[in-house]
Amino acid sequence: MTVRKVGVAGCGLMGSGIAQVAAASGLTVVVREVESRFLESGFGRIDASLAKFVEKGRLSAGEKDAIRGRLSATTEMAALADCDLVVEAIVEDLETKKAFFRELGSLASARTIFASNTSSFPIGEMANSSGRPDRFVGLHFFNPVPLMKLVEVVRAEKTSEETLATARAFAESLGKAPVLARDTPGFLVNRLLVPYLLEAIRMLERGDATREDLDLAMKFGCGHPMGPIELLDYVGLDTTLSIVEGWHRRFPEEKLFEPPALLREMVGKKLLGRKTGRGFYEWEGDRKK
Ligand code: CAA
Ligand code: NAD
Repeated sequence: MTVRKVGVAGCGLMGSGIAQVAAASGLTVVVREVESRFLESGFGRIDASLAKFVEKGRLSAGEKDAIRGRLSATTEMAALADCDLVVEAIVEDLETKKAFFRELGSLASARTIFASNTSSFPIGEMANSSGRPDRFVGLHFFNPVPLMKLVEVVRAEKTSEETLATARAFAESLGKAPVLARDTPGFLVNRLLVPYLLEAIRMLERGDATREDLDLAMKFGCGHPMGPIELLDYVGLDTTLSIVEGWHRRFPEEKLFEPPALLREMVGKKLLGRKTGRGFYEWEGDRKK
């Protein structure tokens, strides 16, 4: 099946990026949010990213306008009904995601494929809520979506071969490199990355090093583009906490998945990182101060 019209649910950090790259690849995209103010901020992020590409000569002003012309915004769930594929990128809360797919399953065309961009929840559980588990797949993009090449294509127990092939082809059509993952906690990247990020927070809690030295250590010692503390702010501390709380509930004996007290404390104070202007560092838009 060829994907021509894509629905994206959620226009936060990830949804805005997914919508942008899909429109940039020539697809028609409809983005659904719960309130129009979130569409405004998400489309502001898309405009800023496209402007950077124009500035660098990677896009012409005409191409930028054509991409914007392929994007539409809505708060109506019914606007997703006739899409070939709907990619869900709403908050990392399993019950909210299951309720979303239950409703989408009742109104979308029978041919529509559903995909979740979840960082950590079982794809199979959401697939069962949707009522169409054979046409359900994980499509896990990376932040910032316009720059990161990887997409994890996650096969759940009942995902059909056709759905899997369509999802892979879709990822490739966006210029991304797909890798196939099983429906296990964190798939490939987050299973490795999240315990590493949590250990960095524990090192801060113990006073082993400053945030700056931890970041410099991994940038210069391992060649990472960002150190772990900066990356936590970049991903969002609320998203990281939701990921580990979900795993901790499912695997209470696993020490690696225990949420550090400092992470809970910062989320409690709404110090969420880049998206709120303050986390471990202070931020001005995309830039760490
Ligand atoms: N759109 C377009 N251009 C962008 C952009 C965007 N959204 N974000 C940054 N850029 C551009 C910048 O303008 C800059 O351009 P110039 O070189 O022309 O100035 C260029 O990209 C590089 O950006 P910066 O100078 O700001 O900083 P950088 O060199 O550190 O690169 C980065 C930024 C690509 C984000 C890099 O730091 C990086 O790769 N960081 C790690 C990101 C990462 O690990 N992501 C995965 C997170 S985990 C995840 O996503 C999974 C999950 O489920 C939680
Ligand atoms: P975010 O908080 O920036 O955005 C989430 C958006 O979803 C919000 O704007 C919210 O209003 C909206 N929303 C909530 N319920 C909705 C609904 N029923 N319908 C439509 N919109 C709804 O979060 P994010 O960082 O973009 O994360 C979104 C998803 O992507 C999560 O599942 C997250 O785990 C995953 N993810 C995040 C990252 C990351 O680095 N932040 C990377 C890969 C995957």
